[in-house]
Amino acid sequence: MSGLVRALADSLLRVTEQAVSPAARQVRVGLLGCGNVGGALVPLLRAQRDSIAARTGLDLSVRSVAVRNMSRDRGVDLGDAQLTNDAMAVVSDPDIDVIVEVIGGIEPARELIIAALSAGKPVITGNKELLANHGAELFELADSNGVDLLFEAAVAGGIPLIRPLRESLRGEPVSRVMGILNGTTNYILSKMTNEGADYADALSEAQRLGYAERDPTADVEGFDAGAKAAIIASIAFGVKVVAGDVYHEGISNITASDIAIAGRLGYVVKLLGIAEQERETGEVAVRVHPAMVPNEHPLASVRDSYNAVFVEGDAVGSLMFYGRGAGGGPTASAVLGDLIDAAVNLSQGTHGSLGVFQRARVRPIDATSAEYLLALDVLDQPGVLHSVTGVFAQHGVSIRAAEQEGAGEEARLVFITHEAVESSVQATVRQLRELDVVRRIGGLIRVIGG
Ligand code: HSE
Repeated sequence: MSGLVRALADSLLRVTEQAVSPAARQVRVGLLGCGNVGGALVPLLRAQRDSIAARTGLDLSVRSVAVRNMSRDRGVDLGDAQLTNDAMAVVSDPDIDVIVEVIGGIEPARELIIAALSAGKPVITGNKELLANHGAELFELADSNGVDLLFEAAVAGGIPLIRPLRESLRGEPVSRVMGILNGTTNYILSKMTNEGADYADALSEAQRLGYAERDPTADVEGFDAGAKAAIIASIAFGVKVVAGDVYHEGISNITASDIAIAGRLGYVVKLLGIAEQERETGEVAVRVHPAMVPNEHPLASVRDSYNAVFVEGDAVGSLMFYGRGAGGGPTASAVLGDLIDAAVNLSQGTHGSLGVFQRARVRPIDATSAEYLLALDVLDQPGVLHSVTGVFAQHGVSIRAAEQEGAGEEARLVFITHEAVESSVQATVRQLRELDVVRRIGGLIRVIGG
């Protein structure tokens, strides 16, 4: 837990240190996992306990905490809560009313959540991996047991997004949700953009600062953002989308030169998660890939490790949600909001329902369209531009802008296409690779939001 979060929790505790009214109804929380998020939740709940009781008439307290390693000092004052390494015992304890799962991963989290829901206990989780693979089944199980399964923390940490999508925007025909869903990659790309750093140097710095894991694959190859995009698509469009439906490309092939070209043309490169629904067919397309975002688009100004999600609806127009997508304090804040909602619903014998999720009809990446930037290192001789543009023409890919930078051995052609179908662009690239005059094909980056 950061010093800042602890100081905030301590000061809130001092301000609100007065006994909860004896009339407040007890809601006993079982916490599964006490890492970054669980460790921030305990003091935050304790600090807010009286104010929650004053507003809801409910006295929420953590009664049991299940951890794998009981001897590890977590630097968290657990107060009267029991510490155990038997998570299933916490779930089945009749004295526990609500379960908070912040263990992460699929098992044993799935098994524990199923047991809790089946026992009629609401569950709050931040587990994106689990929800992106088994969300629909778990939502239905919660519904059939008449309890909540809430998961604001699973997507974009502290940023309220799931509740706005499922409640405030319930009547809105949402056409597209796109966001910067991963702080680590946004930090790396920001460093490459601002300082001209290479990918490898920016990644090392992200690791040194604790943003990137020692094995950064989940973040830099787009798996983490892909899981979040699957959950967003499911909630925004009310259909079942799983992680395996999401096309993902990461940032490890993005070069300083790609970023410089994008910058010169008035764009920044961002890793975007994009979920779209085709109105006529109902088909859903969900993907994660680097994208060139125009400087004037609101997502372009989201820098460093911040996240933001841009929602486009027919009636509401454009909305943007911005903030910290990770970290103990922000994520615990999202968990606590859900916990209060679930406790209130439990006390009133009600719950929120997401309805039944039909399997989405997913449009494959090959059938999606975008504008593309393509940079080619070529021989600088007569007829090269003609041969290259002829390949674009053969595949029906129309060029919107073209320029040559450098000359002789350094010659590079940069093209931006009009909107084109992915399969045609990929066929163009394959054929360009065969041309003797093309020495190297650089980044192929989609252009978004122009
Ligand atoms: N590793 C993620 C990020 C946070 O960098 O945003 C957890 O999803």
